[in-house]
Amino acid sequence: MFFSRLIATGSYLPSRKLTNSDLEKMVDTSDGWIMERTGIKERRITNSSMASSDLAVKAAEKALENSGFDKNKIDLIIVTTSSQDMIFPATACLVQDRLGLNNRCPAFDVMAACTGFIYGLQVADSMIKSGQHKNVLLIGADAMSRMVDWSDRNTCILFGDGAGAVILSASKSKGGVLGSFICSDGSGSDLLKIPAGGSKEPCSQKVLNERQHYIKMNGNEVFKFAVKAIPQAVEKVLKMSGYRVSDIDYLIPHQANSRIINTAVKKLGIDPDRVVTNLEYYGNTSAASIPIALDELNRSKTFKDNQIICLVGFGAGLTWGASILKWNGESES
Ligand code: ACO
Repeated sequence: MFFSRLIATGSYLPSRKLTNSDLEKMVDTSDGWIMERTGIKERRITNSSMASSDLAVKAAEKALENSGFDKNKIDLIIVTTSSQDMIFPATACLVQDRLGLNNRCPAFDVMAACTGFIYGLQVADSMIKSGQHKNVLLIGADAMSRMVDWSDRNTCILFGDGAGAVILSASKSKGGVLGSFICSDGSGSDLLKIPAGGSKEPCSQKVLNERQHYIKMNGNEVFKFAVKAIPQAVEKVLKMSGYRVSDIDYLIPHQANSRIINTAVKKLGIDPDRVVTNLEYYGNTSAASIPIALDELNRSKTFKDNQIICLVGFGAGLTWGASILKWNGESES
């Protein structure tokens, strides 16, 4: 039996800030409305020469640098993104090339929108548990600014760009990923989507004119789904791994909206001081939001060995899920 221990974290956020005041000049909105309805003050935006793979590479390089881990030992790369550089090849293959990993390890993408990191963690953990892979590089990366309609005030205020990476390593000692729960309900697929640009509606002048290649969202319905999905996923994963809400030292929710987080946290009955948020500064970075927060806490040396960390995500699909980690900073070779 192998456990997937987290031996490295890293993240990358573009330096360019887009504040609510900047948005006031672009669409009919206000800093007051955005802060009150979402808790977001500013977000980071990539420059025109950077795509999701570039964000992912930077986060992976940080994880390698922070840990001193030998990149040639990585034997699987998973990238979770919904703003992949191209429809194919997989962004993970581009990352493999850019990292100079010529050991021909498998590399693929997992697409579960904002729940991507939880899905990716479940896949990585299963690969390690099966004994097939020993050192997995898992990256959540999204350049949502490329998918957003900057004339649509319902969505453009929400998103930002960034990437977070972890390296998971097989260990015989108990720790790291203790359990994950992932779930989806395709009947909600219309609530949040990019309608065109795929095989259903390939790119055309009509698509461009109708702006169907951008994110479309029913915000109210996604909100109602999210406040139910978070407690459900957390309660489920706690039960599966034999813990209680009171055992959680840190809850890292997907950073979409502070009202969603506050409502879900109240339902769960968890101490708000244990809930990690950084959305004020980065907005919703989709699959990157959880690993970015994880890396920030790791680098600030907040975590202590054996603390219990719960990650929980939700997003388009609809998808949702949660993972329980037992923190340990030591790698076992
Ligand atoms: N600025 C000012 N007014 C606005 C803005 C804006 N940016 N956006 C909408 N409004 C207006 C609306 O037009 C509406 O006006 P009306 O009453 O005259 O019709 C009013 O504000 C209220 O609109 P609602 O949509 O009801 O506002 P709500 O309080 O629900 O907030 C929000 C909208 C922030 C989008 C919220 O519904 C939300 O956060 N939903 C969840 C979104 C989410 O998390 N998405 C990401 C999922 S993760 C993934 O997979 C990508």
